Formats: sequence, C-alpha cells, structure tokens
Amino acid sequence: MTLATLNLGPALEPALVSGHPWIYRNHLPRHRLNSGDWVRLEAGRAVSHGLYDAEGAIAVRLFARDAVPDTDLLRRRVREALALRAPLTERTDTDAYRLLHGEGDFLPAIVADRYGRFAAVKAYADSVTRLLPTVARELGSALGLKGVALRGADGLEPLWGELPPPEVSVTENGLRFHADLRRGQKTGLFLDQRDNRALIRELAAGRRVLNLFSYTGGFSVYALAGGAELAVSVDVADAAVREADRAVADNGLEPARHRAVAADVFDFLPQLEQRDERYDLVILDPPSLARSADQRRRAQRAYLKLNRAAFGAVAPGGLLATASCTAQVSPEAFQRLVAEAARSAGVRAQLIAERGQPRDHPVPSSFPEGRYLKFLVYRVLPA
Ligand SMILES: C[S@@+](CC[C@H](N)C(=O)[O-])C[C@H]1O[C@@H](n2cnc3c(N)ncnc32)[C@H](O)[C@@H]1O
Repeated sequence: MTLATLNLGPALEPALVSGHPWIYRNHLPRHRLNSGDWVRLEAGRAVSHGLYDAEGAIAVRLFARDAVPDTDLLRRRVREALALRAPLTERTDTDAYRLLHGEGDFLPAIVADRYGRFAAVKAYADSVTRLLPTVARELGSALGLKGVALRGADGLEPLWGELPPPEVSVTENGLRFHADLRRGQKTGLFLDQRDNRALIRELAAGRRVLNLFSYTGGFSVYALAGGAELAVSVDVADAAVREADRAVADNGLEPARHRAVAADVFDFLPQLEQRDERYDLVILDPPSLARSADQRRRAQRAYLKLNRAAFGAVAPGGLLATASCTAQVSPEAFQRLVAEAARSAGVRAQLIAERGQPRDHPVPSSFPEGRYLKFLVYRVLPA
C-alpha cells in the first residue's frame, strides 16, 4: 500500500524539525486518512512519519523522521527505555515503576508501568493500538515478566503472557502496596510520586500529617514509616481510603496512628478552618485540574483556592508539600500561584525543596510540556 503524504506548508517546517511529537488537527490540510493510518508529513524541507487519529486535538503523533517505524525500530525504542530504568530494575526494594513514558520515551501515547512480574499498558490514542503487541512482547521478554496487559475502560486485555491477577502486591522503597490494575486510577498506582514520597518519609518524624487527595495512602504510609505521630488520609474515593488503612496495617504500622476520611477536599478544608484544626505537615496532591489549554484559568483558580486553604491548615513552623500534575500549568506559573496563595493566607512561606518527576518519567528536550509534575515543600511561618 502506498503511504499517504500530506504537505503542511513551509510555516510548519520549524515544528517538524524540532522533533516535537504532535501535529494538531487544525494544521492538517484536507485528507482521506483513517484512524490508525501511517502518514508521511512534509513541511518545507522537513519530513516526519506518524500515526493519524480521527478523534482529539492531536491529529498525528510523530514517531520517526526517515521512514514508518518497523518492528526493529520499535524494539530499539523499548530497549532504550529499559536501559534508562536499569538502576530501578536492579533494586530489590522497588518493583513498581514506569517502563514506557509515551512521548517521554519517543513512543507517543504508549505508557507501560511495571507491577512486580506484570506490566500494565495504556494507550492514550486509538492509532497506537497496532503497535502494542510488538511493544508488549519486547517488554515481557526483556524483563522476564509473567504477563503484559492492556488497561482499557473495561479492565484488562492480555497482550503478552498471562493476565495479571485482580490485585498485585508491589514494593516501593521497601514499603508494600497493592495495585488494582483493572480498576485503579492510572494503571493502578501513582508511580510518579515515588521519589517525593521518599522525601516525605525524611521530613515526617514527630509530625501530625494531613494527606489531602491521598488516593491509596502512599504519602501517609511513608510519613508513618518516617516516624509521623499521626497521618490523616483524605480522598473522595471511598475504596481508595479503605485501601490506605490496609496499606498502613500491611506495613506493620500502628493502625491507631492513621485516620482514613472519605470526603471531598473542597468541602473538608473549610471545615478544618472552622474547627481551627492544624497539622505539622500538609500534603496537597490534587488530580490534574486542566485537560486542555482553555481550562488553564479554571485550574489556576482551583490551585489558588486549595493552596490558600492548605497554608491555613499548617501549624506555625510546619510544612506544606504541594503538588501539581497539570501539564498546562508550568513549574514557574505554579510557584507564582503558590506564592500568591501564601500571601492571601497571611503566612510567610519558605521554599525548602523543589522536586518534579522521577527519572522513569523522562522529558525529551523537544517536548518541554512533558515536565508536568511539580512538587514544592514550604516551611510556613506566621506573618
Ligand atoms: C494525583 S492523585 C493522588 C495520588 C496520591 N497522592 C498518591 O501518592 O498515590 C489525586 C487523587 O485525588 C482524588 N480526588 C479527585 N477529586 C477529589 C476531591 N474533590 N476531593 C478529594 N479527593 C479527590 C482522586 O480520587 C485521586 O485519588
């Protein structure tokens, strides 16, 4: 079959040359492509090859300059990604981490996370589904996994080897967690906060900790393992906070030092204020608050509101660890928002740690928006 070629016009030459992996729909000329078709794009003297999707703002995800990628190229990309994870693969205290980070590993829209002897794959575009059998086989055989499965809306489908059990027990920095690969958020756990959770373990000794948007209690377990006096996990997902209780017990930590609260944080924070209840360490890790650039303003307002209230919930001299996983809010913009929140909460805040995503979530130089995770720790003092 001949490969369709579309000419984007010379204005898009710098975009194609930059290596940025996306072409937006409004930049495509008229065409007769179907979802999942390979297409050769030209712009001035630049050329690239990608997969077309009929849905969504991104029309083409680019994979390779010279030709449509063959099996060898795909396998090479997977092996390059695994080489970056080699230090993690060798660790005995951690067996849950990201294996493929989509655009970050030059495999747009393809994410794969390791959970012990299994991997869960997610496809963020229909077009890439055709590449998954090759990718899964390479992952499974290179790592000696038992099985690699695709996580879809209806649970898991096998891609290679055995289907994972309903729940996989994993170790992260020596702590135990259960991942529900079928129904859990993301592919089961939020693996991108692994290093930041370790930082919280270092900072938590003797503190009363409030973990807002806790999911299955990762930060709470680390805080208690680090010697926190108490950890309160708050998440709107009832099943997640119940799982947090279980994770505390599984790690041999005293259940009495943990409180699980199923609540909407936007309702919970004003109640704390009314009761004048304060904590020595508040962790704020909301879900992504904008899916597209037009939602950015709304996200900024929500960050401002949440961070203002979170600053208010920190006892004098305590810490606020505040995160943002919204790609549309840059690290610089997030710091400005948090500074504004501190001002409006009437506190002095000192930035004492500035972190982001771990090395299994890499950011290509041609894809700066891949730097989505921000994690800032402030000491909070009265005005
Ligand atoms: C980024 S995740 C938190 C990950 C977690 N810190 C961890 O380390 O695993 C965001 C969480 O916010 C929860 N959530 C979303 N909206 C919420 C709301 N309005 N109130 C409370 N929790 C909410 C989701 O259920 C999800 O567990």
